[in-house]
Amino acid sequence: IAVEPFDIVVFGATGDLSQRKLLPALYERDKAGQVPPEARIIGTSRRPLSDDEFRDFARKAILEHIPTAEQSGTVLDDFLARLSYVPVDANAKKGWADLGKALKDGAERIRIFYLATSPDLFGEICGQLGQHGLVTERSRVVVEKPIGKDLESARELNDAIGRVFPEESTYRIDHYLGKETVQNLMALRFANALFEPLWNSSHIDHVQITVAESLGVEGRAGYYDGAGALRDMVQNHILQLLCLVAMEPPTSMEAASLSDEKLKVLKSLKPITDGMVNTATVRGQYRAGASSGGAVPGYLDELGNTTSHTETFVALKAEIENWRWANVPFYLRTGKRLAARMSEIVVTFRAIPHSVFDGSAGPISQNHLVIRLQPDEGVKLWLMIKDPGPGGMRLQHVPLDMSFAEAFNVRNPDAYERLVMDVVRGNQSLFMRRDVVEQAWAWADPIIEAWKASKEPPKPYTAGTWGPSAAIALIERDGRTWHEDE
Ligand code: BG6
Repeated sequence: IAVEPFDIVVFGATGDLSQRKLLPALYERDKAGQVPPEARIIGTSRRPLSDDEFRDFARKAILEHIPTAEQSGTVLDDFLARLSYVPVDANAKKGWADLGKALKDGAERIRIFYLATSPDLFGEICGQLGQHGLVTERSRVVVEKPIGKDLESARELNDAIGRVFPEESTYRIDHYLGKETVQNLMALRFANALFEPLWNSSHIDHVQITVAESLGVEGRAGYYDGAGALRDMVQNHILQLLCLVAMEPPTSMEAASLSDEKLKVLKSLKPITDGMVNTATVRGQYRAGASSGGAVPGYLDELGNTTSHTETFVALKAEIENWRWANVPFYLRTGKRLAARMSEIVVTFRAIPHSVFDGSAGPISQNHLVIRLQPDEGVKLWLMIKDPGPGGMRLQHVPLDMSFAEAFNVRNPDAYERLVMDVVRGNQSLFMRRDVVEQAWAWADPIIEAWKASKEPPKPYTAGTWGPSAAIALIERDGRTWHEDE
């Protein structure tokens, strides 16, 4: 569906996010015919590039990520023709007048400022945009996580943005919310009659959320070492997933209703304070090991610093203190350099109350619903059935299996394609509202504080494994195990 004409100004246009995600996403949307002919894409960064140099840069970035763009006929050239470039140095306060000129004749259009820069610059950029009169009635700002590094800095950042852009024009991206499979979680819960009656502590034993990566810190050690896995993945992506699993049915799919329900979940999260941090959390750091590509160095070697306590792995037992979820633990884990790239949500139902089968039928496993976010996106509902054949009543645990790739023969668009177009459409439902982000920090802060106060280093784990053994012990203490791929 075509959208209204828009101008998008990308700050940090020569950076990693712009190369890997934004330029390819805009190209794909243009190729799909969704970008109106008048739309303009203006790159800015400190680098002194001409329009043509930026177009060359963008061409390379797109071809690296979408090699088939080479054979796209004139599509790629037409896309590149929309691009222009203005050098802007936010700190040195240079280039704003030129940006104003580039945006001339577009005052009536939707105007998007995409801040793909370090968060340190968000406040300054917003302030300068305001001072230079570049913010129009129809302007929107898009900011990337991390929004701050704790509650206090998140508030400051939100205040700085809020002085220039009202909340309705502020789009805080959590790209997990743009993933097809994550949106499908809402369809699964709220477009089916089957699950919702069972979706509570009477029928659900526990929930696991795993976001495992096989890659290491990939040249981002500078940022990552100041953040760590809790800030980088749990405070945002994993808590957003937890909210979508745990929230009450919203009144509608409108942004306000969704954010209201997420906020309630976050407010119900039991604080993990000093006394509990050792039993409810495990932080790990990878040592040298192997990944699919061969031997890989440890985190400290990559960083060139032998004293860092930054965690590259976290496992947590979270509890939601409300009527629906009382006594249903949510086990969360994420890490870099794990055995595989695999993200999934596993909802395990309670055991049957009584078995009518005799011992020869074999063990009866609990039902579980596995929502695989990536790779091999799909949903599996594990059920007990009778082993076929005349050999008596033997039971087997087998999945009702819905693989998205098999069920739908369509390209799985990148999250950014959906999210950027939602900004143009003015649809905030897949973005994070200020209070939601801040509430997530309010829960994460005491964990970070307690870790900081403890002198204990993170638990080591070998690259290419599933993390430190303490993470296995965390869930086994409760008589449960992490879900393994079946
Ligand atoms: C980002 C984190 O938000 O998400 C990265 O900063 C992480 O550290 C990435 O690698 C994972 O995203 P995806 O889409 O590859 O699962």
